[in-house]
Parts: sequence; structure tokens; C-alpha cells
Amino acid sequence: MEPHDAAAEPASLSQEVIAAPSQAGIALVLTVRPDAEGDVKDVLADLGGMTRAVGFGYQQDRLSCVAGIGSGLWERTYGRPLPADLHPFRQLVGAIHTAPSTSGDLLFHLRAGRLDLCFELARQLMIRLAGSVDVVDEVHGFRYFEQRDLLGFVDGTENPVGAAAVAAVRIQDAAFTGGSYVIVQKYVHDLGTWDALPVEEQERVIGRHKLSDIELPDAEKPANSHVAVNTIVDADGTQRQIVRANMAFGTVGAGEFGTYFIGYAARPDVIETMLENMFIGNPPGNHDRVLDFSTALTGGLFFVPTVDFLEAPPGSSTDAPPTTTGKAQADGSLAIGSLKGTSTS
Ligand code: HEM
Repeated sequence: MEPHDAAAEPASLSQEVIAAPSQAGIALVLTVRPDAEGDVKDVLADLGGMTRAVGFGYQQDRLSCVAGIGSGLWERTYGRPLPADLHPFRQLVGAIHTAPSTSGDLLFHLRAGRLDLCFELARQLMIRLAGSVDVVDEVHGFRYFEQRDLLGFVDGTENPVGAAAVAAVRIQDAAFTGGSYVIVQKYVHDLGTWDALPVEEQERVIGRHKLSDIELPDAEKPANSHVAVNTIVDADGTQRQIVRANMAFGTVGAGEFGTYFIGYAARPDVIETMLENMFIGNPPGNHDRVLDFSTALTGGLFFVPTVDFLEAPPGSSTDAPPTTTGKAQADGSLAIGSLKGTSTS
């Protein structure tokens, strides 16, 4: 979790949507059963504490868990107003390729330097949520060589960093300051067809060189390459950016080789425009060639509120974060001293 940097207002903690590439990750997409909203709200309030409990002994492995909430669940759980741009994922039907919209109320995106930490936190979350939720998708991701996807290309190079990353993902000017939106899609690749392509042709599909990861010069980069269709520049020349945290995943026995796309943004329309460029094309027909080798199986859009919101949502009886979870102190400690202070001995 990172401190919010607006000096004039009380500090609000954003969830850790910006993180260095990790060795391991898990994406869990859940639906919430009727009348279980209160249980889910309680677990979300405890998420920070649970993450610290599992990861505390392994600081170097930086366990994190981002929770995203879908539009239907938001209204059922937190009521109105909804975050302004929160809506169900919009299916896109192009002439050849489709981006489906699939069910999901809640997203947990877990990352760490080792899979066991992600796995244990996911397990603890599911113990708490037993009887309240159904898992509609669970993907265990791994780092593949030097942060490559299963097509063999380095993935994540052009992610913004530092202040540019914060500007790309964090809502600054609205009721939900410090929050973000996240879109996820599960893609599977036709690796047989892909591997049969000469490397030079693969590079023209992606728009970068495979070994060196250097971007192709504009004169050589096809308009339907993945990089070209996803480079969105406003009229004033400003590039609209998102922060991606894609995970490689697969099951060799089943011949399943995939990329789990996870894109964070301060406004979902940036990602939605990229998806329109990919699936419909701009101009229509100029679809992203990566889709000729990749099929989208799922699609979901979620809002990522701040840690403060999750721990003490408006209208809850708590106006301070729950003491059971213990909010991290500015120095990163768990304020054990204050516990001692409550002792009667
Ligand atoms: C089949 C799934 C996908 C794969 C395998 C994939 C892979 C890649 C690779 C290898 C790159 C080049 C290196 C980099 O800058 O990261 C890239 C760039 C990028 N991708 Fe994807 N990607 C996928 C889906 C998506 C989706 C669904 C979006 C957005 C909706 C997206 C947005 C971007 C953006 C914005 C860039 C950077 C463009 C630039 O500024 O150069 N990608 N992707």
C-alpha cells in the first residue's frame, strides 16, 4: 500500500495496484451469493490485516492483494453513489474477434515473490468467504524467463513508472480519490500456429523485436501490430497510459497456454478504447493481429477503492479502521507498542 500524496487532505491509502513485476500471482474472480454482502464487506475490511499476517515474515517477497468490486456487487454492498465510471464489462464484437463479458462480482489480484504466499492468502480468504461466494475463475500465474509472455515476448516494458504510473491509475479529482479501475481478460494462445510463424513475422505482429525487446521503427511497424493499436495519443499529443500486470499461465497436459491480462487505469475508457482498437479496429477492420493467435475467454471490470474505504466504508458503525486488522503505521510497523499500552498489568 502506498501513501496518497495529496498534502491538503487526510492521508488515504491506495491499494497496491502499482508494483514491480512479481515472480508469482493469482487472480481469483468470485460471485457473491444473495445476502452474503455483509460477510464480504467484513472480509474486505480485514484484507490488509490478513495480507500482513501471511506476508509479514517474508517482507522481501512483497505479498500484496488488490481487491476489485464489480458494479452489481458495489450497489448491493455499499449502495449509492457508485464510482462514476463503474459499469459491467462491455462485450466487443468485431468482424472476426469477440471480447466476451463474463460473470464476476469480486476480483482478488495477489502478487508475491513466491507462489506459496499468494496461495496461502487465497486459501485464508476462501476460508473466510466459505458459503458466501462461488469461484468463477482462478488463474495461477508465473514469471516466464525475463518477464515474457508465452508468445515469447517481453511483456510490460512500456508500462509507465513513478509519477506517470500514479497519474495513469489513480483517481485524483472525484469522490473516490485514490481509487482505480481494473479490467481483466483471460486469453489462451494457439501456440502451434504461433510457433510456426518465422520470428520476423511474430515481431511484426507484436511491433517489437523478440530477443532484444527493442520497438520496431515506425516505418517497419504494421498498423495492426499490437503495439501500434495500443498506442493512444490525444489531440494534444499526450499518450494515454495504463498500468499492466499480465500473468503467464498454462497447463501443458491440456495444451492451455495463456496470458491473463490485468490493466489498471484511473478511467476505464482508456482501456476500453484500446480494446475497441484491438477487437474492432480503428479504422474498423484493422484488428490487432495478436488476436489471430489469442482468444479472449473472459472479461470483467472492477473498481479498486482505497484501503481506507474498505476498512471503514461510509455508513459503517466504525469511523476508525477496525482494531483487529490494525492499520499499518507510517513507519510500516504494526503498532505493537500501542497494544502494550492497553494492558491493565
Ligand atoms: C493476448 C494478450 C496480450 C498479450 C500477449 C500482450 C503482450 C504485449 C507485449 C509483448 C507488449 C510489448 C511490450 C510492452 O510494452 O509491454 C504489449 C504492449 C502493450 N499492450 Fe499488450 N498484450 C495483451 C493484451 C493487451 C490488452 C488486452 C491491452 C489493453 C486493453 C494491452 C495493452 C498494451 C499496451 C498499452 C501496450 C504498450 C504499448 C506501447 O505504448 O508501446 N495488451 N503487450
